[in-house]
Amino acid sequence: MKKRYTLEQKKWDAPVEHAMPAQACVPASFNVGGVTIAPATVLAPMAGVTDTVFRRFIKNASQFGAASDGVNVESEITNQQSGCGLIMTEFTSADGLARMRETKRKRYLTYYDDEHPISAQLFGSNPETLAESARIVEDAGFDLVDLNLGCPAKRVVACNGGSGLLKDLPQIERIFRAVRAAVKIPFTVKFRLGWNDSHIVCVQLAKLAEDCGLNAAALHARTREDGYTGQARWEYIAQVKDAVTIPVIGNGDVRTPEDAAAMVEATGCDAVMIGRAAPANPWIFRQIAQYTASKEATGIGTYEIPTDQDRYRMIRTYFQMLVDEIAVEEAAEAVRAAAIAASGQTAREQRHRDAVGKMKQFAAWFTHGVPGGGALRKAIFEAKNGNAVLGEVERFFESRANATHGEHFAPEPDEELDAAPAWMG
Ligand SMILES: Cc1cc2nc3c(=O)[nH]c(=O)nc-3n(C[C@H](O)[C@H](O)[C@H](O)COP(=O)(O)O)c2cc1C
Repeated sequence: MKKRYTLEQKKWDAPVEHAMPAQACVPASFNVGGVTIAPATVLAPMAGVTDTVFRRFIKNASQFGAASDGVNVESEITNQQSGCGLIMTEFTSADGLARMRETKRKRYLTYYDDEHPISAQLFGSNPETLAESARIVEDAGFDLVDLNLGCPAKRVVACNGGSGLLKDLPQIERIFRAVRAAVKIPFTVKFRLGWNDSHIVCVQLAKLAEDCGLNAAALHARTREDGYTGQARWEYIAQVKDAVTIPVIGNGDVRTPEDAAAMVEATGCDAVMIGRAAPANPWIFRQIAQYTASKEATGIGTYEIPTDQDRYRMIRTYFQMLVDEIAVEEAAEAVRAAAIAASGQTAREQRHRDAVGKMKQFAAWFTHGVPGGGALRKAIFEAKNGNAVLGEVERFFESRANATHGEHFAPEPDEELDAAPAWMG
């Protein structure tokens, strides 16, 4: 049977607990080719996760803290308030983008005004197509364009995209030069250490990126063969940082503010990129900002831990945003349907399936550690549509609020649950 590519399979392997480092904190800002990113934190691109709803949800996560009395996702949140300096799209196929009609492209490259600065990530192996897609991204108003050289997924590697290219540095150079010549916006690359332990190329690759005029390099400190197993080897981030002058973004296994500070201390990286911790703990960026501010003020880093009610507000708001986005897309679809009469119903059903799929996936991550979270996950998994899911969340948290009053969650043992929504393939 085909192996599914899911968040559940990418849990941390025996994560290391980092002690609070004596000095280092995540820097207040860094500069990528003229774009200031403040604070120096990046939401990692995650296929099936970091769509526009999730990205805006993360930017608004600061409103779900204990101190907040109401949630208004329409209000303007600065990156300093959210704690997240840069967001990135899910990876997008350069071949697909170059072939698509204008209207379909818009769906793939959807973002809202409050998402700036935002980077669009592309994957592919053909220099001309990547250059053309980078131009499309620039015309769509993105602040940065990123090339994915890290994705280990077989269907991406099979067409020489993602980490498949790590075995072919000359082809990478051709791509770097073609994309660099095509756009004026900052151009960055995200890569792994190399294909496997006998083929580690990260330092060479970072130097090549610098020579070709790229503006930053992000390293997920694992090889392609590592997948998500073992510990990210931060020592390679330090080596890359020593080898180049362009900013280096460290990535891999940051789960807490202490981890983020420890990564900066261990590697000297200019910024920290966070992936899997974000859906499991959407407060992570806010917590890093609180940790940094308190450490600078008092020498001791502290941050808020979400309460039961914070979690309730968080999950409810995210799910409501997913439901609301269906309405936005339907309005856009209605305009398109006037031109393409036949496509309506199928697209609508697909969107509902997609939104519910995302809710199920998010619930699987976010409810670990919630007492009785297993029952909530089960109810969500059995719900048929977005409103039914919201109803289950309401019921669950009402009963929780009656049982306990605003206390913190005690961890529960992880339960096996296949979180793979059908759309992940
Ligand atoms: C579900 C999922 C989807 C991902 N999709 C992408 C992607 O589209 N592009 C990319 O460069 N990396 C992708 N990654 C890798 C992450 O960006 C990140 O490098 C990796 O998860 C390690 O960081 P972490 O330990 O903070 O999670 C994905 C990871 C996950 C868990």
